[in-house]
Amino acid sequence: MRAVRRLVTVEEVRSALRAARAGGRRVGFVPTMGALHAGHLALVRASLAECDVTVVSIFVNPAQFGPGMDLERYPRDLAGDEAQLAPLGVDFTFAPAVGEMYPPGFATWVEVEGLTDLLDGASRPGYFRGICTVVSKLFQIVQPDAAFFGQKDIQQAVVIRRLARDLDLSIDVRIEETVRAPDGLALSSRNAYLAPADRALAPALYRALADARALFEAGERDARALVARARAGLARTPELAVDYVELVALASMQRLERVDEPACLAAAVLLRGTRLIDNLLLLPPGTQAPGMRGAGAR
Ligand code: PAJ
Repeated sequence: MRAVRRLVTVEEVRSALRAARAGGRRVGFVPTMGALHAGHLALVRASLAECDVTVVSIFVNPAQFGPGMDLERYPRDLAGDEAQLAPLGVDFTFAPAVGEMYPPGFATWVEVEGLTDLLDGASRPGYFRGICTVVSKLFQIVQPDAAFFGQKDIQQAVVIRRLARDLDLSIDVRIEETVRAPDGLALSSRNAYLAPADRALAPALYRALADARALFEAGERDARALVARARAGLARTPELAVDYVELVALASMQRLERVDEPACLAAAVLLRGTRLIDNLLLLPPGTQAPGMRGAGAR
């Protein structure tokens, strides 16, 4: 098995990829904050399957954590992450220090408007500014041909796709299906915070969304009715404190009254202080979610 080569400076990434690019090889990129799980690894596999060289960045980005969020507590295990990546055949990790990404005097920020109005954009001021800035930088550093994001963070993926389009980056932004535990809970690095009793309650989030999707599949198109069904499902588990439940158009991330275009039912809850998010696509028959893996995708 080949070891993964760890790159830590921007210069190292540039010189390591120069040769690959000169040889006309396709570079795939998977940005992460580490504490890798099977959800991340699915993105890595998608990159390996279609690209010649795969770079996985592992960087807990301070700019996307608000005050009082879990920046200090966020799980970090670089060696463990690389041990998971090596057997898959990943070529490089990029694991920069904070000062490499945000040197003293750093003053430039990237913002995507409109798509960030609702959902996590509304609940977490500065969150998408931090994400868009770090992902723009990572795109500039790695200059991939394709970049892989998870449907689990659907708003992030849609925002990044727009960012790439608006800034004329010739990067194919791919969205891969959410990987779930057998009980339905979307895998997340933050699930590690849950005590066993809370972990057992957490799948109620997925069940509530799936219940509303079943109503959609039975023909309901009224957004209010669908959101109400999801909320009613969440209310059955009082430990879940609802942050938001929204039904938005996939293309605009703006609220819909009726689901007559590809849509997304998304929710965020707090389970004894741990924030969980999840979403399901609602695709009216005859419509498709462009550029999303397995869309029919659940
Ligand atoms: P992180 O939370 O580590 O997630 C990295 C990527 O893995 C994201 O694209 C996310 O959507 C995807 N992912 C997480 N859980 C998943 C699951 N259960 N199934 C499928 N994909 C999943 O998202 C970030 O990091 C950061 O915001 C980042 C983009 C790296 C910028 O800092």
